[in-house]
Amino acid sequence: MPERLQVTSELITGIAELTTNDPERQRMNDAALVIENGIVAWVGPASHAPAADTSKDVEGLAVMPGWVDSHSHMVFAGDRSEEFEARLAGKKYEAGGIHSTVEATRAATDNQLTATLLRLRSEALHNGTTWMETKTGYGLTVEEEQRSARIAADVVDDVTFLGAHVVPRGMDADEYVSLVTGPMLQAVRPYVSWIDVFAERGAFDEEQSRAVLAAGAAAGLGLRVHGNQLGYGPGVQLAVEFGAASVDHCNHLTAADIDALANSDVVATLLPACDLCTREPFAPARELLDAGATIALASNCNPGTSYTTSMQYAVTTAVLQMGLTVDEAIWAATKGGATALGRADGPDAIGSLTVGSRADLQVLEAPSVSHFAYRPGVPLTCAVWKLGIPV
Ligand code: NIG
Repeated sequence: MPERLQVTSELITGIAELTTNDPERQRMNDAALVIENGIVAWVGPASHAPAADTSKDVEGLAVMPGWVDSHSHMVFAGDRSEEFEARLAGKKYEAGGIHSTVEATRAATDNQLTATLLRLRSEALHNGTTWMETKTGYGLTVEEEQRSARIAADVVDDVTFLGAHVVPRGMDADEYVSLVTGPMLQAVRPYVSWIDVFAERGAFDEEQSRAVLAAGAAAGLGLRVHGNQLGYGPGVQLAVEFGAASVDHCNHLTAADIDALANSDVVATLLPACDLCTREPFAPARELLDAGATIALASNCNPGTSYTTSMQYAVTTAVLQMGLTVDEAIWAATKGGATALGRADGPDAIGSLTVGSRADLQVLEAPSVSHFAYRPGVPLTCAVWKLGIPV
């Protein structure tokens, strides 16, 4: 006789406002939710809630999906607060700052890198981030990039290979691209599902970026691009040409770039904390949405341009300074991030609380998600559940 699967269900009641990200009704009031074996099994008005094995009353608080942070660089060592301060005093951010983190990262032990990564992952989780991507990119040798990828794969949910972050000091750019697209890619392949390239002045030009994306695609990796951060450039158009899942930063976009994004499935991932910390103009979030593009919001946690894991900060900034509505910003930081990681649909979808999705959720110390803008800077996440289990 086959063993019967033990199904356990839990009813969450007392939800003043539930954000589902269902296109029909993104938010609903006086709602309830049933979780079965880590998956959302029922969502609806509290008055219609079915019975379950156990129940939890959240007593008038808001519940929403956990944040999906689709862009971070958290395998690193060292501190760049001096560079940061110099920037506040007027020095421009340049891709070259990455080299100092590369030196510190190479000098660190596995344990040191893991400890920093775990600290940041835990900080994010307790502030509501239930799914997190991170990138390599501070190793820049075959061994060091493989080490970063291995360490990341043990801690985060999605790992991206960013060997093409900058050309290491003293190396010829084309030789380095051959290394990235050959032995380095092979070495990291078991640990990563994405490849990324920093297609920017001071990093990789159009032809080099194209080589990286083509090699990644041939190796079966999903594609991501860092583009249009420090000036106009080829990043967006390359992302569209290669069918990348996402192009990230997008501070400097032409009308043709916005149009290309609007007519493609490429997600524009915007990084408001980074925009503020580098004093770049905000990415044109409103224009992108009005044109019909899909956007995500992410933390870009890294030691150089955005040393924060706070998705709440990204949302508050997007609403108060970039012209998004609360619903648009919440969607971008949850389902938008899931879309940028190819995980918004299908079984175990993340970024939404609809039937069949993962029960990755956060309870807010507030009756509504509008409090992210209404009470800027006040930490609102008071409980987090991952796959239906409180963390
Ligand atoms: O996304 N733009 C490239 N990479 C990072 C910055 C990394 C650094 O400066 O250390 C970013 O902002």
